[in-house]
Amino acid sequence: MGLISGNNNKKLLSKIATNDGHGENSSYFDGWKAYENDPFHVTQNPNGVIQMGLAENQLCFDLIQEWIANHPKASICTYEGAQDFKDIAIFQDYHGLPEFRKAVSRFMEKVRGDRVTFDPERIVMSGGATGAHETLAFCLADPGDAFLVPTPYYPGFDRDLRWRTGVQLFPVVCESCNNFKVTKEALEDAYEKAQESKIKVKGLLINNPSNPLGTILDKETLKDILRFINDKNIHLVCDEIYAATAFSHPSPFISIAEVIKEEVIGFNKDLVHIVYSLSKDLGFPGFRVGIIYSYNDVVVSIARKMSSFGLVSTQTQRLIASMLSDTTFVEKFIAESSMRLSQRHGLFTKGLAQVGITTLKSNAGLFFWMDLRRLLKESTFDDELDLWHVIINEVKLNVSPGCSFHCSEPGWFRVCFANMDDETMGVALRRIRHFVLQANKGVLEVASKKLCRRRSKLEISLSFRRLDDHFMMNSPHSPMSSPMVQART
Ligand SMILES: Cc1ncc(COP(=O)(O)O)c(C=O)c1O
Repeated sequence: MGLISGNNNKKLLSKIATNDGHGENSSYFDGWKAYENDPFHVTQNPNGVIQMGLAENQLCFDLIQEWIANHPKASICTYEGAQDFKDIAIFQDYHGLPEFRKAVSRFMEKVRGDRVTFDPERIVMSGGATGAHETLAFCLADPGDAFLVPTPYYPGFDRDLRWRTGVQLFPVVCESCNNFKVTKEALEDAYEKAQESKIKVKGLLINNPSNPLGTILDKETLKDILRFINDKNIHLVCDEIYAATAFSHPSPFISIAEVIKEEVIGFNKDLVHIVYSLSKDLGFPGFRVGIIYSYNDVVVSIARKMSSFGLVSTQTQRLIASMLSDTTFVEKFIAESSMRLSQRHGLFTKGLAQVGITTLKSNAGLFFWMDLRRLLKESTFDDELDLWHVIINEVKLNVSPGCSFHCSEPGWFRVCFANMDDETMGVALRRIRHFVLQANKGVLEVASKKLCRRRSKLEISLSFRRLDDHFMMNSPHSPMSSPMVQART
């Protein structure tokens, strides 16, 4: 069988198949490829690339494994569970098992501190949050219509909401000067700009807690958002898949469900839809358990019919129903997971702060937003990508550049911290600290020689094979002490 050329494919296949709308041609995914070509391993490949571009929650698998080992019947394909095999193998309809919907809605309540209730009848299954977003886009908008979305935002939204539906995303530009807050002004501005471009706005998509920022929306902002969508009569999709990753106590995470409870007069609940999944809070992205929770009866009914395209297997439903009905386990898991995330986040961000690397203040998520603006030669996205190439190829860390999140300001990078063990984290931290210290040295050398106003790409390219980790970890030098560096902020 011969290969078909690119051009011929364009004629033979559909527009969707050939329009690159999957978005995998971005630096976000290029970083993953760099990791796959040379993956770090503590003993087998200690100079390889460390994957810090993957928002996975791997810090509590010991708890999950213990539960699985103690409940062999729940997995069904085990000696203890085998007698139930027929039940999971035969036909399932798209409603989902009642015990699964009940357990998931209870879990959603627990994660939100039991301050709200969720009706199991409104739980619709989907193939992860990915499937939930696409299903909602199909339900709420027509091709060409747009959703507003605050920047920076998760790059997968470009694929999930747009690719197969033909729906557009229109940026609500948020800036570092106010910690990327979603303001009324920014929302109005985006809405007006879309109108001027003759784009019909059908909704606003928010992600709370935010990927990539790791920040949480406060109650006032959530109220402003509700008023905004109510005034404009557009939908609100709230992606809350990082709800349980919040790690300040008492949990500061406020679900849109809580605000709706209070916002009664003249407010149209039919406009609000929550996207949830077990990929981040439980750390089960492989299970593909996604949820649409809509306050709109018609959307619940249509989304349920559409869910035929992305059902959760009955075996998974049975296991999840059993695990999440174990209240003692759930409470312990939520508390422990948030504590471990907090510790990891603190270790990493404090370690970076010691060498003058600042990060956006955050208290949720599996990542933080690192500010390397001072290391850019010019404040451009080209320079951001130059710096990113050095970080991938020389420092051997796959962090993700801000441009892949549609950030409006160059120089920000997302760093994931929960997808690795402590040892790997130590190596990653040493590498990045060393890099910044060396980059800072480059600045000073250039400054003293007065050769050039700016550094060349080569000057921040380092040889990490000669790295003395112990020295670097304990180095008293900090780039913040450099006047050249300070001048760049
Ligand atoms: C904000 C956000 N929404 C949705 C997804 C997709 O999640 P899932 O694995 O449940 O499809 C991700 C994954 O990283 C995400 O960060």
